[in-house]
Amino acid sequence: MSPSDFDHAAGCLPDECFRTPPDLGIMLGSGWGDALAMDECLVRVPYADIPLLGRATVPGHAGELIVYMREGKRIVAWCGRRHWYEGAGWESVVLPVEILRRMGAEKLLVTNAAGGINPALKAGDFVAVKDHINIVGLNPLIGSHHVEWGSRFPDMTEVYSRPLIEKLHACANRLDLRMMDGVYAFTAGPCYETPAEVRAYKQQGADVVGMSTVPEAVFAHACGIKVAAVSLVSNLAAGIGHAPLSHQEVIDAAECAKPRMRSLIDGFVARL
Ligand code: HPA
Repeated sequence: MSPSDFDHAAGCLPDECFRTPPDLGIMLGSGWGDALAMDECLVRVPYADIPLLGRATVPGHAGELIVYMREGKRIVAWCGRRHWYEGAGWESVVLPVEILRRMGAEKLLVTNAAGGINPALKAGDFVAVKDHINIVGLNPLIGSHHVEWGSRFPDMTEVYSRPLIEKLHACANRLDLRMMDGVYAFTAGPCYETPAEVRAYKQQGADVVGMSTVPEAVFAHACGIKVAAVSLVSNLAAGIGHAPLSHQEVIDAAECAKPRMRSLIDGFVARL
């Protein structure tokens, strides 16, 4: 991957997208595209019209880029993400972050649905990601080095910005939402984990497990963008809960949490 791989996609977006740097970039997973409170919508582009993103292969991740205003702040929201397991390579996964970097974004909020490992977690809880474990070692920065994307060996001591995590907690407290800090374990998917894997991740210190977020967060952090990530516990991880896991359950949980996710995002935007 190199920055020039994204030139064509960037060139297909309306000029308005690059007119002024956004106050926040948002990467929304799991069908939360309509969990945005907008005062004015400036740009809408379906992913199908953006080279490298194309059509979604996963239900619930349809995809639309929205640039909008909320309380005087300019927000760029990527509604729907591409995953490594879709097999299209890293370009489609990190393109939203690369475009945000080109727009001059300095902050990114990432949302995801994840399986709860920590026994204190219940389905429907939120977790402010304080750190991650890249279980599989997959990394979009593997390959030739490009100075635009930061250091060859980026420091990962604080991928998730503490001040932004505090903002998430302030919003959750205000809204009376259950939210704890947690460590997100990133797996390649698309299989859910085995119970033995979940036990192993728990011993390693993971609180939740999922198939996204970490590549985008690593890439953004390396580029100097401050990152916050919030997980919705859509289900208890394999072997913690008793029922077999299904994507439908994840979609249903995300749908059920949508009003709370919307308030959380809106509160976060208000605190920027
Ligand atoms: N495991 C991995 N990814 C997930 C899960 C899970 O239990 N729930 C939602 N995404």
